[in-house]
Amino acid sequence: MYLVQQVGGSWRGTWFKTKKLTPAPPWWSRPGHCHTGPHVVVQKSRQKGAHNNKQVTKGRKKERSSCQAVLDRFDQQYGEELGDLWASARAVLLQPPSWQYGVMLNRFSAVTDITQALQSQGFFTLLPQTNDSALLCNGSSTVSESKYQRGKDTLLPPHYISMCPPDDCRARPQPDSSFHALGQDPRSEPSLGSPRPSLQCYIHPCPLRFPSPAHRPGQLKQYYLLNAASLLPVLALQVRDGEKVLDLCSAPGGKALAIMQSAIPALLCCNELDPHRRNWLAKTLESFLPHPLNSSVIVSAQDGRSFGQTQAGLYDKVLVDAPCSNDRSWLYSCNSQQGEQRLQGRARLPALQAQLLRSALSAVRPGGTVVYSTCTLSSFENYAVVETVLKDFPEAEPDDLWEEIAVPLSNHFAFSSHPGHGQTPHKSTVSSYHRRLGVLVVPQPGKTWGPMFLSRIRRRK
Ligand SMILES: C[S@@+](CC[C@H](N)C(=O)[O-])C[C@H]1O[C@@H](n2cnc3c(N)ncnc32)[C@H](O)[C@@H]1O
Repeated sequence: MYLVQQVGGSWRGTWFKTKKLTPAPPWWSRPGHCHTGPHVVVQKSRQKGAHNNKQVTKGRKKERSSCQAVLDRFDQQYGEELGDLWASARAVLLQPPSWQYGVMLNRFSAVTDITQALQSQGFFTLLPQTNDSALLCNGSSTVSESKYQRGKDTLLPPHYISMCPPDDCRARPQPDSSFHALGQDPRSEPSLGSPRPSLQCYIHPCPLRFPSPAHRPGQLKQYYLLNAASLLPVLALQVRDGEKVLDLCSAPGGKALAIMQSAIPALLCCNELDPHRRNWLAKTLESFLPHPLNSSVIVSAQDGRSFGQTQAGLYDKVLVDAPCSNDRSWLYSCNSQQGEQRLQGRARLPALQAQLLRSALSAVRPGGTVVYSTCTLSSFENYAVVETVLKDFPEAEPDDLWEEIAVPLSNHFAFSSHPGHGQTPHKSTVSSYHRRLGVLVVPQPGKTWGPMFLSRIRRRK
């Protein structure tokens, strides 16, 4: 077991023995996959002399058993839709110790040596960084915008360049009464004018888990743990400084945070219907974002289905990270009754998702874009929803994310572009129309990220 501790302000790693015996090497620890195996846990400790074994036991996840009813349904549906790809996805989903974790750094947090600790453990950045961040952050967004123009329509530009608060952030739209600004606690963190890099997510080829970020009173959290595939809808959204952005289904706020790592929008409206989850969302935002951003990042409590009517055409970009059959979590439903209930309600999801997507397309301005995403493999909640909604919106046009997202990131993620082409998701086998409906990240051995479906729809001018 590998333990990383914070000792006197720096991070130190040590190996130590554990009593756990491993019967046979599973696929993720075989040569060519991961040499370190599933028992690698990265733990940090601030307490001098803390007992290592105890901490590691605390940090290790309990073994979970899967819900048979959910698994049977998935076998039936995904076996048909994904073919052989499902067999390997299934193996990953049923082996939580094989799951990889991403570490998204918080660029608003005070500088720490986390990067060093991550790199010394073999973590690397998912998205290549430029040095532009420090160089360009001089209080103006002009340079980053001109860089973006040069590389327009590619995956890279807006996310690799430092985002400094643009002047037009001052002219913010006034929130209506259904919104409330975040808490006003002052933060002892760097001001927005400080140089800081853009979206940075560290990943590891092995299922190495960094500990959850510690709560430090009065300070912002330094990083957010996530399934790295969750960043793809945010990358596809291509948010630029000064834009008005709506995150229609926002809690617990992972993608909203990723948006704020990528750009400084004039407005980020984080909408969430469920009150309990909305509180969670507000807490997440407060823990990661500095006080000066509180008036431009707002939490809203509307039913996302009616958002498009009340705020038609107001936003440059809208993210619909829709409620869905969350495959990973549903497989581990706490009991069979919960599993059955979820499966019963599943048939209603595509209608809800289509309503949310229609509402998003109404909320976006002509020329703006909507990204629709889910964390399920189900084609009924993915391609079919997009296809249905496009029929009602002749002014909406799907973008091809294959070249932009799937090709450049295929070293890290396993993509499929349309159901029925399970074995080899190759673009030549899929019509360009179907390819434009969206791309699907399918968990695979060694690339355990996902499930994540994303589709980008542009509203014509
Ligand atoms: C997949 S989760 C969003 C995850 C979030 N985007 C993130 O990255 O952390 C979907 C969310 O949509 C919310 N939701 C469900 N129905 C909704 C509706 N009609 N309007 C707005 N939000 C809704 C759910 O409560 C849930 O929090």
